[in-house]
Amino acid sequence: MDRIIINGGKRLEGRLPISGAKNAALTLLPCALLTDEPLTLRNLPRLADVDSFGHLLNQLGVSTMIEGTSPEDFGRVMTMRANRVTSTVAPYDIVRKMRASILVLGPLVARAGEATVSLPGGCAIGNRPIDLHLKALEALGAEIELTAGYVKATAPGGRLPGGTVVFPIVSVGATENAVMAAVLASGQSTIQNAAREPEIVDLCRCLVAMGARIDGIGTETLTIEGRKELHGATYQVMADRIEAGSYACAAAITGGSLDLIGVNADEMRATLHALAQAGVIIEEKRDSVRVSADGRLKPLTLSTAPYPGFATDMQAQFMAMLTLAEGTSVLTETIFENRYMHVPELARMGADIQVTGRSAVVHGVSGLTGAPVMATDLRASMSLIIAGLAASGETQVQRVYHLDRGYERLEEKLQAVGADIERAGDG
Ligand code: EPZ
Repeated sequence: MDRIIINGGKRLEGRLPISGAKNAALTLLPCALLTDEPLTLRNLPRLADVDSFGHLLNQLGVSTMIEGTSPEDFGRVMTMRANRVTSTVAPYDIVRKMRASILVLGPLVARAGEATVSLPGGCAIGNRPIDLHLKALEALGAEIELTAGYVKATAPGGRLPGGTVVFPIVSVGATENAVMAAVLASGQSTIQNAAREPEIVDLCRCLVAMGARIDGIGTETLTIEGRKELHGATYQVMADRIEAGSYACAAAITGGSLDLIGVNADEMRATLHALAQAGVIIEEKRDSVRVSADGRLKPLTLSTAPYPGFATDMQAQFMAMLTLAEGTSVLTETIFENRYMHVPELARMGADIQVTGRSAVVHGVSGLTGAPVMATDLRASMSLIIAGLAASGETQVQRVYHLDRGYERLEEKLQAVGADIERAGDG
């Protein structure tokens, strides 16, 4: 298994290109199932999860063709076509490795009238049920049965009628499945208490480009007029606001200055606001954001929340940054029940953090010391990288396959802005 080796203490300085958003790509890819015409996605990030999703789509009868890299942006161009859906089954061995596979459920029921998807099971950050996905599909007219670890959803008569979905709590994935199921329904659907993340706006915009009728995009109430069919389109994946926020924390903790290229500041307001409160200087430009820090950071009190609140996907990275702040910070994780796996590893580098229930109290220390540490989940891995960039001495992050799921060309991007970082295989 690969590991990443960092010799810390170097200020990061320069321009860092931000890739297409993983969490947008993973909901845009299944849109190919909603039409028999080609769907071309631009600015697709080179990530393990994107490749895995492509393989799953192939198994369902979707042809996928990589058409090289689009020069004006960093990502890949891929054209997909589901002439016919040849299978409606997403098997356990794929779903267990990538829980985002559950996002084929809605499109398959919408297009093929049925879907059989393995229950994803939990993961490192929580048990992550899919009850809200299933209740939403039922509200849209699907029949749901659970057997032998699989969920089978069926549209009576082959086409969902549509209906009103009222989410008791905000769920990104369940909102995405509901939207993708409703766009081909025979009637109108309303989704209340919908998630409002920018990745869902990206999904809705792509579906509209394919001929879908969606009102209320970006709000908590979506109204969808079902269509008989959608047509193909070419759509550009939004920039990854979480990748950008992660590298902003790296700039802050190393006292550096990074131009984050290609990111939309309006999609990361809560992150930028928190960075500014910590004393980081933010300069917004047309299609980039410059993040600079010189000297000790101020402590913060932060609670994660659904968008537009402070993103749970930024919690671990901020915690790493705040281990060196001048004072005590308090972070509260309200979305997932076990998203502090990075704490014991940060402690091994000298951080002073106490976790009590949903909150973590971070007492700023004067410095971190490099150490061999273990990645446990995607964002925890990035928090260890961020800490290693500031620590004195060598940090080795093991199990970097977690990182490869969400950060494209991480060491290349960081080397280009002055980090002493490399990847070593175990041969
Ligand atoms: C998406 O996960 C993201 N993943 C996550 O990013 C992100 O952390 C999360 O949204 C919250 O923003 C992708 O987009 C691929 P949820 P998702 O449904 O859709 C509970 C990363 O690091 N819940 O909004 O699974 C759930 O347990 C990943 O990039 C139910 O109870 O998140 C959680 O406590 C990690 N029942 C809360 O809702 C359900 O049916 C929010 O989960 C669904 C969710």
